[in-house]
Amino acid sequence: MKILVTGASGNVGKYVVKSLLQMGLPTVAAGTNIKRLKTEFGGKVDFVMLDFQDQHTFSEALKGINRVFLMRPPHLGKPEDLYPFIDAMKKENIQMVCFLSLMGVESNPLPPHHKIEKYIEHVGLPFAHLRPGFFMQNLSGIHSKEIQEKNEIFVPAGNSRTSFIDAEDIGLSAATLLQQYNQYQNTTHTITGSESLSYYEIAEILSQVSGRTIKYVKPSILKYRNHYIQQRNIPKAYVHVTVALYLMTRLGTAKHITDDFFRLTNQQPRTFREFAQSNQDIFERVNT
Ligand SMILES: NC(=O)c1ccc[n+]([C@@H]2O[C@H](COP(=O)([O-])OP(=O)(O)OC[C@H]3O[C@@H](n4cnc5c(N)ncnc54)[C@H](OP(=O)(O)O)[C@@H]3O)[C@@H](O)[C@H]2O)c1
Repeated sequence: MKILVTGASGNVGKYVVKSLLQMGLPTVAAGTNIKRLKTEFGGKVDFVMLDFQDQHTFSEALKGINRVFLMRPPHLGKPEDLYPFIDAMKKENIQMVCFLSLMGVESNPLPPHHKIEKYIEHVGLPFAHLRPGFFMQNLSGIHSKEIQEKNEIFVPAGNSRTSFIDAEDIGLSAATLLQQYNQYQNTTHTITGSESLSYYEIAEILSQVSGRTIKYVKPSILKYRNHYIQQRNIPKAYVHVTVALYLMTRLGTAKHITDDFFRLTNQQPRTFREFAQSNQDIFERVNT
C-alpha cells in the first residue's frame, strides 16, 4: 500500500506527508520541482515528478499507488486543468482520493473546487472532500510582505470574520481520512478553527505577539487586485480566484465554525494566537 501526496512541498501537502509518516504509512511526495521536495524532506520519503499539465508524468507518479491526496495548485484557475489526472487515477483504480477543496463550495459553483469535486464524483472515484476554511498560513505566506515591510494587513475582507485553520491541522485531517479510507469513503468534511476572527482582531493579536503596531488597512477589492498584480507580480489567475474568495468572505461565508477537525482527530485545532507565537520570526519587521 502506498499513498501519493500531490503538492507535497505546499502549505498543506508538507503536513500531509509529515502526518502520514508519523502514522507509519508508505508515502510518495509529488510535485514538479524535485529539488524543492528534496530540500523539504531530505531522505524521509520517496519523490516522484508529477505535473498536472503534462500527462506523460502521470503513469510513473501513479505506479504502485493506492490512495491519493489531491490538491489544486493555486495558479491552475480552470477546474479542467485537473481532469486528465483525475481520469488517470480512475484508470488506476485508486481506492481513495482526498481532495483539498474549500469551505462552502457545495453551495457555490464559482471556485474551481466545486467542479473538481463534482468531476471526481462523476468518474466514480471513492472520495473524501476536505473543505477547509482560510489558512492561517495566508498571513505568514502570501500576505506577510505587507506585514513585514509596512506593518499592514492588506486583505480586502471588509469587516467580515474568518474561522482560520492551521495548514498543519488540515494535513493531519487529510492523513486521517487517507489512513481510515474505508470508514470515510464518499464523505465531506468542513475543517475550521475554533474561533472566528475579524482582520482587526488578527491585527491586534499580531501586534501583541510582535510587540509593534500592525494595522488592518481594509483595502478595496480593486486596490488589492492592482497591488497584487502590478506591484507584487502575482499571476492574474491566482489573484482573480482570491478576489472571488474575499468577495464571498465579505458576504459572511468564511465565518462558520465546525467541530469536524475534533471529530476526525480527537484534538482541538490550533488557535491563531498559538500560530502567531510559533511563527514570530516570520512576522518580524523587515526594513526595505
Ligand atoms: N489559502 C487558503 O486559505 C485556502 C483555503 C482553502 C482551500 N485552499 C486551496 O488550497 C490549495 C492550495 O494549497 P497549498 O496552499 O497547500 O498550495 P501551495 O502552498 O500554493 O503549493 C502549491 C503546490 O502545487 C505544486 N504544483 C505547482 N504546479 C504544479 C503542477 N503543474 N503540477 C503538479 N503540482 C504542481 C507545487 O509543487 P512544485 O513546485 O514541486 O510543483 C506546490 O507544492 C488551492 O487549491 C486553494 O484554493 C486554500
